[in-house]
Amino acid sequence: MVLLGIGSGAIGCLGTSQSTSSSNESKSSTTSATFSSIQSAILSPKCGTCHVSQRLGGVDLSTYAAVLNYTKPGEPDSSSLYTQVKSGAMPQGGPALSQTDQQKISDWIKAGAKND
Ligand code: HEC
Repeated sequence: MVLLGIGSGAIGCLGTSQSTSSSNESKSSTTSATFSSIQSAILSPKCGTCHVSQRLGGVDLSTYAAVLNYTKPGEPDSSSLYTQVKSGAMPQGGPALSQTDQQKISDWIKAGAKND
């Protein structure tokens, strides 16, 4: 009467697939900065008085398209948006951006300078 699972012998083979992959995730030091986060946290408050509400030096940083003029996607060191803050030249007359803010700009450019 009682139907035992005859012959299958499958005793629920639990966890036989032990993935022993060494996880090297700890070295991802990118801040995953997006354009919108950079715009609201850096460009608007720290550059905006000269490059958003005004165009000092003819430099407009008010929109993504405008910012791209100073950005070479994938190459922060060829992008004046980054080199100017890295060197401390911008914000002009003010304290340099924090390392974190500089890193965010660099990371965003490195990741392709997307309109995200
Ligand atoms: C107090 C005003 C002021 C602020 C704040 C300021 N800038 Fe500027 N910026 C200027 C002026 C004036 C110029 C053009 C003359 C020059 O290069 O010195 C300029 C030029 C630039 C240029 C073009 C440089 C080149 O030679 O290609 C970039 C890029 C730039 N600024 C980025 C920024 C960024 C990014 C910030 C914010 C972190 C910022 N600026 C904040 C005044 C300012």
